[in-house]
Order: sequence, then C-alpha cells, then structure tokens
Amino acid sequence: MMTIARYRVAGARSFSTASGVSTVGVIGLGLMGHGIAQAAAEKGYKVVAVELEERFLQGGLKRIGDSVKKITSKAVEKGKMDKAVGDAHIASTMARITATTDRGALASCDVIIEAVIENLQLKQTLYGEIGRVVKDSCIIASNTSSLSIGTMAGYCGRPAQMIGLHFFNPVQMMKLVEVVRTDQTDPKIFARAMEFSRSLDKTPVECIDTPGFIVNRLLVPYLTSAMLLVERGVATPADVDTAMKLGAGHPMGPMALADYVGLDTCLSIIGGWQSAFPDEPAFKVPESLRAKVAAGKLGRKTGEGFWKWDGDKLAA
Ligand SMILES: NC(=O)c1ccc[n+]([C@@H]2O[C@H](COP(=O)([O-])OP(=O)(O)OC[C@H]3O[C@@H](n4cnc5c(N)ncnc54)[C@H](O)[C@@H]3O)[C@@H](O)[C@H]2O)c1
Repeated sequence: MMTIARYRVAGARSFSTASGVSTVGVIGLGLMGHGIAQAAAEKGYKVVAVELEERFLQGGLKRIGDSVKKITSKAVEKGKMDKAVGDAHIASTMARITATTDRGALASCDVIIEAVIENLQLKQTLYGEIGRVVKDSCIIASNTSSLSIGTMAGYCGRPAQMIGLHFFNPVQMMKLVEVVRTDQTDPKIFARAMEFSRSLDKTPVECIDTPGFIVNRLLVPYLTSAMLLVERGVATPADVDTAMKLGAGHPMGPMALADYVGLDTCLSIIGGWQSAFPDEPAFKVPESLRAKVAAGKLGRKTGEGFWKWDGDKLAA
C-alpha cells in the first residue's frame, strides 16, 4: 500500500549545491533517519522520506515535526529568530518532505541515505530494490554503524555508487559525518558525498570500509575495556568514570557512556565484530555486558545498566 503525505506551504523551494544534489531520499524515519530527513529539509533540499511499513510512517513524520518545532521554538525563545520567521521555517521545512511507503519514489533522488535497523536480511532485500530503482548518478549511502559497506554494495549491484554516510545521534546537533568508501566507490561519487555533507553544515571525515569506521572502532573497545577492568576488580564503575572524567577530561565516563548508548547496542556491535574477527583481542566481549543485557538492564533506556537512570540523566 502506498501513502503520500505532503505538507504544503507557499514559497517552499528546492535547493541545489555543488554536490549535484537537489532531492534527498531517506529510508527509515527512526532515531537516525528522522534527524537526517530533518537536517536535509531544513537546508532546503526536497526530501523523499520512505518507510518500509505503513505503521512506521506517521510516527516518523511526527518525530520530524516535533523536533523542528522544538529546535525552532528554542531559537525564538533565545531571540535568535522572530516568531514569524520561525513559523515560516517550520512550515517550509515540512513542506519539502514527501513521505511514502513506495520505494519507487526513490527514482527521483540524487542521494539516498538508508537508515533502517541493523538487520542484514532486511537490508539485503532493500538494497536489491534500491539497485533496481535509482538513477546511475545517484549517491547510495548507508548510515550503518557496524555493517560492511562493501556487503551492501554487493546487494544493490551498484558498487561504484555505494558509500557510507555515518551520522551521529542526535543528527540535529552532532557535527560529524564519517564518509566511507570501498575499493570500488567512484571517486566522483565520494567527492559529491563529502560536498553534500558539508552542505548540511556537518564536518565530514574520510574513512575506508573497516569495522566501526573511526569513532566506533576506537570508542566501543574503550567502553568494553572499562567493563573488563571493572570485572578484574581494578576499580568500581563509579571510580572508573570519575577517573576518566577528571583524569582524561572526558565529559562522561565509559560506564555511564555505555549505558547512555545502550548496552544491547554495545553488545550487538562488539559481539558482531568478535564473531567476524575472533583473533582480535580488542573485540573481547565482557561477561558483565552479556549479563546486564540478559537481565534486561540495557542502560538509560530501561532506567538501569551499570548505573541507575532518571530519564536522560543519571539518578541522584
Ligand atoms: N542509534 C544510533 O545511535 C545510531 C547512530 C549512527 C548510526 N546508526 C545506524 O542507523 C541505522 C538506523 O538506526 P536507528 O537507531 O535509527 O534505528 P531505529 O530502531 O530507530 O529504526 C529505524 C527504522 O528501521 C525500520 N524498522 C524498525 N523495526 C523494523 C521492523 N521490525 N521491520 C522492518 N523495519 C523496521 C523502520 O524503517 C525504522 O524507522 C542503523 O543502521 C544503525 O546502525 C544508529
């Protein structure tokens, strides 16, 4: 079944840049996808927002609408924007977004960013469809955190067009995008993706297709090393966090950060890498991590992990 939801506002326009992109396709309007769709629409791009199932579509659109309103209202409250300008910005941003469950709508896109859950089977089917639908000039990007871009390039059958565009959560606030290439990525596609990232006011960094790219390759083993250190009885979780905050100047200690990211997410990433690279010592899975996840203590989102949480904050 196909749904088209379009918010119309007089004066909404599309936007073109040196990247050759004017229409952006986003697949999956979850935590990451809604932020990517919002960032592109706010910068003036036409956005084709595709959800795989009808049940996700209205929730995804609402998420975008709520987020644009919240950020714009804050700017108005702080006096950075007139209320009338803010209202027009919200309306014009939403007017640029066409939401649908029809994957055929991706045919008009100059870049497609896939942001569905990390389920290889789901992505395999989806990339097969993407490969059949898109233009030869389309940049095909995955926002995956832990899967190989090369594998998805194989699924879509268009390896020269395939890259990773790894945004960070929350997309609306975080400046970094890791732009990931495989051996087969066309350098022109890569250069256009770098330019497109800059046009969203992000700072792109280049990276080859390797587990975790740059940030997660360094960050996830750091978090699990902290858990292993606690398991060995070197220090308590509280002292590990205090040590890294005061000794290394980190805003949050690794135990709290693992809770914040989600212990299930940490386990799924490190577990996947351990299976793929069993000889890599940095990918050892801590027993305490397995135990927390098995007990349903997933960190911030369940109210308890290595720490207790009160909403988004550590419990007093
Ligand atoms: N969460 C993060 O902090 C983060 C950061 C960077 C990259 N990523 C990557 O972004 C992608 C999306 O992650 P997310 O956290 O936004 O995911 P999410 O759980 O919010 O879901 C995203 C989308 O996946 C699809 N989906 C969800 N459940 C489904 C189901 N049962 N059947 C079919 N489709 C379903 C829907 O389209 C949904 O909008 C993943 O590849 C992830 O690795 C996540």
